Amino acid sequence: MRTQIAIIGGGPAGLMLSHILHLEGIHSIVLEKHSRAHVLRRIRAGVLEAGSVALLRDVGLGKRMDEEGHPHDGAYIVWKGERKILIDTAKYTGKQMLAYGQTAITEDLYSARDAADGIVVDEAANVALHDLTTDAPFVTFDKNRDTEQIDCDYVIGCDGFHGVSRRCIPRSVLKTYNKSYPFGWLGVMSETRPLPDIVYANSERGFALASQRSERLSRYYIQCPLDHDVEEWPDDLFWQELKARFPGDIADAMETGPTIEKSIAPLRSFVAEPMRYGRLFLAGDAAHIVPPTGAKGLNLAFSDVYYLSRGLIRHYKQHDDTYLDSYSDTALRRVWGAARLSWYLTRLLHLFPDDNPFDQRTREDELDYVARSENAMATLAEQYVGLPYE
Ligand code: APR
Ligand code: PHB
Repeated sequence: MRTQIAIIGGGPAGLMLSHILHLEGIHSIVLEKHSRAHVLRRIRAGVLEAGSVALLRDVGLGKRMDEEGHPHDGAYIVWKGERKILIDTAKYTGKQMLAYGQTAITEDLYSARDAADGIVVDEAANVALHDLTTDAPFVTFDKNRDTEQIDCDYVIGCDGFHGVSRRCIPRSVLKTYNKSYPFGWLGVMSETRPLPDIVYANSERGFALASQRSERLSRYYIQCPLDHDVEEWPDDLFWQELKARFPGDIADAMETGPTIEKSIAPLRSFVAEPMRYGRLFLAGDAAHIVPPTGAKGLNLAFSDVYYLSRGLIRHYKQHDDTYLDSYSDTALRRVWGAARLSWYLTRLLHLFPDDNPFDQRTREDELDYVARSENAMATLAEQYVGLPYE
């Protein structure tokens, strides 16, 4: 097989890249390790920055998102069981966010690739990358007991944190930054009417978040110890603990009911630099992970893909590699911005096991300050809505 761009990983980053390249007449093949059903089952965050919304519309994927997504002028933060602020992105940046789940976006991307007869090989096993520092890189993989080879111009690693692509970059070249957090998020999905707004809660019992997927689908999270198992959280206990972390009026407005999904995810910050090695480029979770506080993961994957597609299009159309050569530096500026914001919000809103009362008091003071200071609020709103693409 031969293609211009071999893309490893059929998550949002890989599919979006393949879709954009197709619109410009550039051929790609996507190799995905899991079955399509598995990829479409995964539940991830669901808040789109204004830049991601614009990108999806620009590449012809805005229809269902605009019909089903829920626009927000910002998100609320509550603390001390009574205080409340709106991170008013509409007022301070003129931009809105949109609640639209990653699961739905992945469905939309698969539909677009199918409609264009795009090649997405699923259940591709033992994917291996070869000759990345030559002009003739290639990828091998196993499918249905055969070993296949794809010759290409470039290989793009969109295979998430646990993928193979990043590991092909020698340790002497790759610098990694890692931070793990001493708690996880217990997330539930329930077919109940969500609150009208996204609300983050800091409380003495720990962090909680109320979010949504649609009119009748709510998404809630609570901070929990890393060694907890979902079995320890029957529905009744979950709803009780969730409500206890919000002010009374908000807790009273929450509709409860059976949960349809429950899982615990650890929180981690990770950045790998550079995002290029020879003819290999990394995009999305393959290069960086942010904790979910602020919902930046998918948005970062899309900004990487935007920068990278721009570089590849310029390469093929104008034989100019300026954007490809600056890709890693440009993408990393935005990555670090989001990595810092996600870390900041995580620290601001969660309780840490080795905290003493001073730590929680300074958190509350910082929230009081944001509530009082237009400048502090403008800074937060600008970053929450997403820094503009360069
Ligand atoms: N070979 C082929 N595919 C692989 C391999 C491999 N060795 N390893 C992993 N994959 C696939 C995974 O099965 C997955 O479908 O790569 C895909 C990576 O997708 P994501 O993990 O969704 O990452 P990405 O596309 O970068 O999207 C980032 O996902 O994790 C969230 O919060 C994150 O929302 C952000 C988004
Ligand atoms: C979600 O809806 O899953 C969500 C929303 C906001 C976040 C994180 C996750 O900050």
